[in-house]
Amino acid sequence: MTDRLAALLPYPKSVRPQPGSFEISTETSITAGPGAQRAAAAVRRVLAALPWPAGTGRERGAAAGGIAVDIDERLPDEGYQLRISPVGARITAGGEAGAFYATQTLRQLLPDEAWRAAPVPGPAWQLPCAEIDDAPALSWRGGHLDVARHFFPKPVLLSFIDMLAAHKLNRFHLHLTDDQGWRIESQRYPALHEIGSHRPRSRISHSADPAVYEEIPHGGYYTLADLAEISAYAAARMVTVVPEIEVPGHASALLAALPYLGSVPGGRYEVSPDWGIFPQIMSPLPEALGFLGEIFGELLSAVPAPFVHIGGDECVLDSWRDNPAIEACRRELGLGSADELHARFLRQVADMLAGRFGARAVVWDEGFASGAGTPAGALRPDTIVMAWRGMDIARRAAEAGHDVIATPVVPTYFDYYQADDAREPLALGGPVTVQDVAAFAPGAAAVSWPGHAARRLIGTQFQLWTEYIRDSRALEYMAFPRACVLAEAAWSGQPAQATPAAATPAAAAPAQAACAPAVAAPVQAAAVPDWHGRLTAHLRRLDAAGVEYRPLDGPRPWQQGGSGPRRHRAGHRIAAIAAHLDEIARQPGVP
Ligand code: ACM
Repeated sequence: MTDRLAALLPYPKSVRPQPGSFEISTETSITAGPGAQRAAAAVRRVLAALPWPAGTGRERGAAAGGIAVDIDERLPDEGYQLRISPVGARITAGGEAGAFYATQTLRQLLPDEAWRAAPVPGPAWQLPCAEIDDAPALSWRGGHLDVARHFFPKPVLLSFIDMLAAHKLNRFHLHLTDDQGWRIESQRYPALHEIGSHRPRSRISHSADPAVYEEIPHGGYYTLADLAEISAYAAARMVTVVPEIEVPGHASALLAALPYLGSVPGGRYEVSPDWGIFPQIMSPLPEALGFLGEIFGELLSAVPAPFVHIGGDECVLDSWRDNPAIEACRRELGLGSADELHARFLRQVADMLAGRFGARAVVWDEGFASGAGTPAGALRPDTIVMAWRGMDIARRAAEAGHDVIATPVVPTYFDYYQADDAREPLALGGPVTVQDVAAFAPGAAAVSWPGHAARRLIGTQFQLWTEYIRDSRALEYMAFPRACVLAEAAWSGQPAQATPAAATPAAAAPAQAACAPAVAAPVQAAAVPDWHGRLTAHLRRLDAAGVEYRPLDGPRPWQQGGSGPRRHRAGHRIAAIAAHLDEIARQPGVP
C-alpha cells in the first residue's frame, strides 16, 4: 500500500511515509474547523462521488475515524498539508482549492477501484499513513481543447474537466471558434450558430497531401445554458474555463454567418472544410468592435470568466491593407502599419473586456509581436501572452511586462504524433513524445531572464488542436498520458524526470516550519520515485476510469492508423516547423 505513496502524479513537494494505515469508508466523518466550511464541502464533494466498497466499516469492526479539515491562511490558496494516521486524516489547506487538491492526492492513495464510476467487489479501502506537504509552483496549469475543427459533445467536455481536475490542472482553455466552426449559441445573432456551426464535409488528408474530403456533414454547438453548465461543473472542480473567441483571423465561420463583418466589402465566405491559415479575416472597424461587445456579453453572461482568450494568431493582413476604409482608419489613428493596427484592435477588444466585464484578455504571441516596440500598437499591459512560437518570444513578452504562459509547440502541442512510428494514426507533425514532455521545465528557460521578466512566467498548458482528432476516443488517445506528465511539470515547475529538491528532509524542514503549526517534526522524506514508474502505476487508474490513453509501448491494434482515412503519414518534422516559426518571427513588424 505504501507503493501508492510512490505512485503519486503530480508528485507532491514532500512525502514522508509513516507506519500503519487508516481504513476510510462512507462512515468516516468529515469535520470543518473554523472558517473551513467551504474547504470541507469540497472534500465531501470529491469523496461522496467515489464508488465506495459495499459493506460499512462498522460491520467490519473498523474504527469510524474522521477527516478534519482546517484552513491555515499562511499556506497558499492551492497548497495543503495532508496527515494520515491510523486513527484519521487531517487536511490543512490554504483555501478551498488546497482542500480539493489534498482530496485528489487522497484519492490517488486509494486502490485503483476508486477511479471507477460504481463499486466493484473488493476489500475495504485503506490509506497508507503519511505526512504530505504540497503546493503548486505555477498558478496557470492548463489544458486546451479545440472544439471548432471538430465538435465534441458536452459529456466529453465534462469528463475532460474531470481528468484536468484529477491531475490538479486548473484552466480549461476552450477554443470555441475558428474557420471550421462557430460553437456558441447566440440569441442576438442566431445566424452564428445556425450557419456557422456546421460544414457539409471535412478534409481528411494531411495538409501536405492532395485534398481528400469525407462527404459527411460535421457540426454542433453549445447552447448558452450548456456553456453555463460546463463552466459551473469546472468551477466545482477548481477549474476555470477560459473561453476563446478567435479574432480577427480564423474567422471564416463567423463571416459565413455575418459577412458584413469581413474586411473585403461584399466578400463571400464559407465554413471551411479545409485546415490551414486563411486570408478571410474580420474588419477592425467600429462595427466589428460593437458586435464583439455584444457577443462577448452573451458568452460572459453564461461563463463568468476572469480570463478570455481573443486569439490574434496567424492573421493574414492583406485585406486590411487593400481596404481603403481600413487604411484611412489606420492613418487616422497614427499607426504605421497593418501589424500595429492588429495589435491596436486586440487592445481595443481587451479594453472592452476589462471595462465591461472585468475580464483579462489572453492572446497568442503574434498579438504581442505585431505591435511590440510601437507605443501606439502596444497591447493592454495586463494582457496575458501565450507563447507558442518558443521561449524567445515568451521572454520578449515578459520583458515588456506581460504575464506569459509557456505553450511552445515542443512539447505542449499534443495534436502532434506521440512517436516516430508508422503505427501512429494521422497527425500534423512531430513527434512530441511523452519523454519530451517529461523533460519539459516551464521555468528553466526563464532562469536566465531578468528577475522582473522571470516572475511573469505564470504557467503552462497543453494544446489539443483537432484537425485530425475526430472523436472522443482519438482525443483521449492524443491527450493521455502526455497530459498526466505535463501536469507534473505545471505543478512542480520542474521536469517530471528531475528530482525535486524538497524530497530531502533538509529541504522539507523550512517549509514545514514556515507553514505548519502543530505538526510533528518531519521524518525522512521518500526519495522521489522515477516518473516512468509512477506513470505506469497511474495508467492503471486511467484503466479503471475507462480512459483510452496511448500505452507507453505504442498504440493498441484498434488505436493504430490502419489503412483508411486515419492512416499514418510522416507529418511535418519538428525541425521544419521550428524553421517555419523562425521565419515568421523574422517578418517585418515582429521585433
Ligand atoms: C497556434 O498554434 N496558431 C496558436
